Amino acid sequence: MRKFRVAIVGATGAVGREMINMVEKLNFPVSEIHFLASHRSKGKKLKFKNEEIEVKELTPEFIEKTDVEIVLMSAGGSTSKKYAPLFAKRKIYCIDNSSAWRMVPEVPLVVPEINAHTLSPQKYIIANPNCSTIQMVQALYPVHKIAKIKRIVVATYQAVSGAGQKAILELQNQARKIVETNFEKIHVSRKDISALPQQIAFNLIPQIDVFLENSFTKEEMKMVNETKKILDPEIEVTATCVRVPVIRGHSEAVNVELEREISIEEIYKAIRNGENLVLIDDIKNLKYPMPVDAHGKLPTFVGRIRKDPSRKNCWWLWIVSDNLLKGAALNAVQIAFKLIELL
Ligand code: A2P
Repeated sequence: MRKFRVAIVGATGAVGREMINMVEKLNFPVSEIHFLASHRSKGKKLKFKNEEIEVKELTPEFIEKTDVEIVLMSAGGSTSKKYAPLFAKRKIYCIDNSSAWRMVPEVPLVVPEINAHTLSPQKYIIANPNCSTIQMVQALYPVHKIAKIKRIVVATYQAVSGAGQKAILELQNQARKIVETNFEKIHVSRKDISALPQQIAFNLIPQIDVFLENSFTKEEMKMVNETKKILDPEIEVTATCVRVPVIRGHSEAVNVELEREISIEEIYKAIRNGENLVLIDDIKNLKYPMPVDAHGKLPTFVGRIRKDPSRKNCWWLWIVSDNLLKGAALNAVQIAFKLIELL
């Protein structure tokens, strides 16, 4: 098998570190690997297959000179807007984890289990969808195939790692300070809040990303628009996205309205046969998916499947996945595997 020259941009970040991990764990065929980040991380060392590799600063000069073939990028929207076109201009494939390119019509927005066919050797920028969207559409795709989904109502419970390394440290720091007071103080001081918009320790925040004109957040509208682009433009979607004090693993309570009547056995069968899905639905033994159990795992977990008696052909599902893996790094590396099949 041919090997590829690969770069990871944002290698020092929460997702970037997992991209390194996934490239190594899944044995992506690499002949050479480069780690890039901002000037702040220049010279830092990160491990790859027992080797210490020095982090370089991402600059236009690096892109001009490099012979890298595939870039996995998770360095935020503005970095991506600036640098992805420079990679593309040099015919270097850039699989980007930010929201910068997702809704551009000619940019493939890919969950490999669903729409790898949208990849093409002529499309150099490829978008990795939003973490909450990936696990939801991945779990719903096999159901949609057997009984068309008309509408999705979803509430998310999203881990702090989705907001990056700084948010993980912020939760740790706030929680430690509150525990140290023996819960006499339940609020932290304003100076301990910066990565997230409000206190997250022993709390939850019904705001992810910024608010838009329609009073929804940008994260909520990502779930709406990306689901339509990946799964089916006819599906109606509405979402509430909530940040919860979990380190890793997004959870989602999803209500779907199907076009036809269906049995729970049919749904179970569809999920069991779905790619990279695991059904955990054994309420007698108190078994259902939870973020602590999904932490570090590759599949997406589905459970609590039940018919919604309040409305015809509606069902509830509970979907949990590691947001840094299937929600980000794993999905990006899976895209890279599908891409090299075309080269
Ligand atoms: P750095 O560590 O040097 O700041 P997270 O999502 O965990 O906050 O990580 C964001 C990642 O994006 C980090 O690796 C960060 O590097 C990287 N990054 C941020 N800004 C830039 C930039 N202008 N150029 C390259 N990488 C960047």
